[in-house]
This record gives sequence, structure tokens and C-alpha cells, in this order.
Amino acid sequence: PANGYLRPAGTPMTVIAHRGASSAAPENTLAAQEVARKGGADFIENDVQPSKDGVPFILHDPTVDRTTDGTGAIRSLTSAELKALDAGSWFSPNFAGERLPTLAEQLADLKARGGNLLLEIKGAHTRDEVATIVKVIRDAGMTQRVFIQSFEVDALKYSRELAPELPTGLLRSGLDADPVAVAKDLGVTAYNPTGDALIADPKAIADLHAAGIAVMAWTVDSAAQWKKLDEAGVDGVITNRPAELVGWSAAR
Ligand code: G3P
Ligand code: CA
Repeated sequence: PANGYLRPAGTPMTVIAHRGASSAAPENTLAAQEVARKGGADFIENDVQPSKDGVPFILHDPTVDRTTDGTGAIRSLTSAELKALDAGSWFSPNFAGERLPTLAEQLADLKARGGNLLLEIKGAHTRDEVATIVKVIRDAGMTQRVFIQSFEVDALKYSRELAPELPTGLLRSGLDADPVAVAKDLGVTAYNPTGDALIADPKAIADLHAAGIAVMAWTVDSAAQWKKLDEAGVDGVITNRPAELVGWSAAR
């Protein structure tokens, strides 16, 4: 089937706000999502992991230590304990009282105010944990506006089996020797390596496109890199500076 995430020639790259607008607001919060939305981002990128009681929460690190006033592994804390944490003060006093969102809350916010989600399943997940994520997305009525990505091959396989309606992207820290074979084997919609790896080997983009696979680069924050990736035909760019990328694309 046709891949709707391939960028038609002459159109701007899809702008994906890494952890929300994480240079302007505390990452992976609804505040960061709001800033990204106002800046014109097409997608918000966020990371999902389960609490001790199995509720999918939006958090990047395996612990809450860096981005909240608490300590401990997310998987060792209940949803009530996670909800009591301040997820904004570490970034700036202006964001004091910001809470860790659940995936359900994040989706409700996107549904009410607009925007799409590039949801990274962060770290190894069981099939049941992926099934819970899928249920939350379906219950929110948001399957048309969520794109799943992960470094975890098993999580992508579970997602493909449990929710074939959700597009999936394979995250890579570099480029495989044969990205097309890897992507085809998994049946993913997109192959998402680092921007640096693609800039060093831009032909990989054409190869992936010829196979009907989209390419999204992470995490790219400079105009010099945006230009190279744009010229190489990348479909989407994950960036900490979404508003700046929107402006840069408009000025092209
Ligand atoms: O979207 C890709 C990027 O988010 C992967 O790295 O560590 O920021 O989750 P990380
Ligand atoms: Ca991520």
C-alpha cells in the first residue's frame, strides 16, 4: 500500500517536536506540547513507559530523578506517586507544578487542541504492556493521529500484530548496512536514524523511498543540517527547535 508519510516533492519536511518543544518548556509535559503546537509543529514526539500499576506515562528516562522533584524508577512508582511529582520546577520556576502526563491525558489534550503524536515506546515492553498502550490510543479515538516508533524491535512487532492500523517507525542510532532489508523485515512504515548518519550517507534515503519506506531523522537542531536533509529528501525531522524549523521551511 501507498505510504502516506512519504513527502511529495516541493513540500516542507514534517516538523516533529522532540519531547515537545523541549528547549522552551519542560520536556514530555503538556506545557511542552502546547508550546510545540503554537509553534506550528506537525507532530509531537514523546516517550511512553508504564508505572508500577501499569498506567502508560510520558517520561523519557527510566527514572524520575532528572525531570521531577522525586527519585526512583518509573516502573517502581504507582500512578498516584507519579502524579504527586513536580515535573516543571527542574526546568524553570515558571513551570512549577507541571505534572507528568499519562498517555491518556496527552492524547486528550491533542484531541481537544490539535496535533499528532510520534510516540516512542521507550525501553523493552512486554506484549501486554504494548497492548495497554494500543488500548489507550484506541479508547481515545486517536489511531489516525498516532505514529509509533521504537528502538525496541519486539515492541514494534507487538504493535504491528496488535494494531496494524498504527504506522510504525524503527529508531536506529546509525544506519544499518542494508536499511531497506531491516525495515522490510519488520514491516515498518518508516526508518528513523540519526540525522548525522543520513547526512553521511544520503543515498540511503532514496533507497528507502524506492522501497516505499519513509525516513525521519533525529535529533536535528541546526539550519545547516536541516538544509542537507531537506535536499536529500528526508520526510520528517525530529528537533528540539520546532518553531525555528517551521520558520526555516517557510523561508525556503
Ligand atoms: O525521536 C528519536 C529520539 O527521541 C530518540 O532519542 O533519547 O531522545 O528518546 P531519545
Ligand atoms: Ca524519544
